[in-house]
Amino acid sequence: MSATAVTDPLLEHVDEVLTTTRAVRRRLDLARPVPRAVLERCLEIARQAPMAENREMARFVVIEDADKRAAVASVYRRAIEEFVLTPLRISAARREAAGKPPRELPAPLQRAMVSAQHLVDHFHEVPAQVLVGSVERVPDSGRGPFASMFYGSVYPALWSLQLALRSRGLGSALTCIHLHYEQEVARILALPDAFTQVALLPVAYTQGLDFKAARRAPAATVVGWDGPWETR
Ligand SMILES: Cc1cc2nc3c(=O)[nH]c(=O)nc-3n(C[C@H](O)[C@H](O)[C@H](O)COP(=O)(O)O)c2cc1C
Repeated sequence: MSATAVTDPLLEHVDEVLTTTRAVRRRLDLARPVPRAVLERCLEIARQAPMAENREMARFVVIEDADKRAAVASVYRRAIEEFVLTPLRISAARREAAGKPPRELPAPLQRAMVSAQHLVDHFHEVPAQVLVGSVERVPDSGRGPFASMFYGSVYPALWSLQLALRSRGLGSALTCIHLHYEQEVARILALPDAFTQVALLPVAYTQGLDFKAARRAPAATVVGWDGPWETR
């Protein structure tokens, strides 16, 4: 039997979810409410993810209140403006001043930018925002095993949450640009000082379920067997 033969229907579903859980921004259904029970189940599943030393450091803040969602969305917008759009404008102006043509962004990056802008414009309208983080601050020795244990105790749960949402017809997008203004979001939500925010997810049902696998370089180009991967 070939190693890729699918013999189990569950395997097929799991592979589908693992390969088609995309950053959804433009296809979020802003009009359809997300029942709290669905979020609760997905969060329960997310808590099964691996974590360092079984310490259960990850925390999840679901933001449903419209005023709080709007306040968080406005912080997000400011961060995108300041740390993404302004630098792009400055660089474009410098090129123009130097008589250079505008820089052509690769098509996938251009698409991602349009999609990211759509999210900026609608972040306040998503039925739920989920802020994910750790109950502790990033360790001072933020390198090596400590950094890995710190973030590795949050990201697996975060991704499990995104997968569990996708399995139920909901979409999300991992975002972290607002972390430039982490303290402002902490104030909006009255979060304790010790809490480290890691990512913010817009969550909504998706318009349609047909998402595709992303184009990625073949695994053979990034995997080494018994040593470094081959540079091609
Ligand atoms: C650590 C991390 C931070 C990210 N931050 C943002 C963000 O601030 N805003 C955003 O729109 N997308 C953000 N993304 C989403 C990526 O842009 C997205 O995964 C990428 O466009 C690829 O899309 P795909 O996941 O659908 O393949 C982030 C992703 C990761 C893993």
